[in-house]
Amino acid sequence: MNTLIIYDSLYGNTELLARTIGEAVTGDLEVARVGDTNLSGLGSFDLVIVGSPTQGGRPTQAMQEYLSRLPSLGGAKVAAFDTRLTKRWVKVFGFAASGIATSLKARGGTLVAEPEGFFVEGKEGPLVEGERERAKAWTLGILGTLES
Ligand SMILES: Cc1cc2nc3c(=O)[nH]c(=O)nc-3n(C[C@H](O)[C@H](O)[C@H](O)COP(=O)(O)O)c2cc1C
Repeated sequence: MNTLIIYDSLYGNTELLARTIGEAVTGDLEVARVGDTNLSGLGSFDLVIVGSPTQGGRPTQAMQEYLSRLPSLGGAKVAAFDTRLTKRWVKVFGFAASGIATSLKARGGTLVAEPEGFFVEGKEGPLVEGERERAKAWTLGILGTLES
C-alpha cells in the first residue's frame, strides 16, 4: 500500500501526530507538510490522510488553500484528523477534521474513517497524555477496514 500523510502544524503537535500515524502505517509512506507537497501526484496514493490544527473552527489557512486546489482523488481512500483544545466552548466553532473530510469527499475521496480529533492541553500543546497511542489505534482501525 502507498500512503500519503499531509499535515500542517504551527507548534508541532499535529506534525508529531502525523509522524506517529506514519509509524503505524505499513507499506510505502510519504509524510509531508502542506506547503512542501505538490498536488499532481495525489492520484497515485491508495490512502491519503490529512491533518491540521483546528484554528477558528477550521483547518489552517495554508491547509484551506491546499484543499481548495485539490485535484480529483479518483476514489482514493481518505481520512482526516485534527488537533484541538479540550475546552467545551470550542465546540461552538466546529473542528478542522470535519471540514477536511468534506473537502476530500468533494474531490472523490472515499472516507474510510470518521474524522477524528486529538487533544492538546493548551494552544501550544503538548498533546494530552495518551493521544499518540489513540492516534495509532485510529490508524490501525483504518488499516483493518482496508484489509477486510
Ligand atoms: C489562531 C488560533 C485559533 C485557534 N482556534 C481553535 C479553535 O477554534 N478550536 C480549538 O479547539 N482549538 C483552537 N486553537 C488551538 C489549536 O487547535 C492548537 O494550537 C493546535 O491544536 C496545536 O497544534 P499545532 O501544534 O500542530 O499547531 C487555536 C489556535 C490558534 C493559534
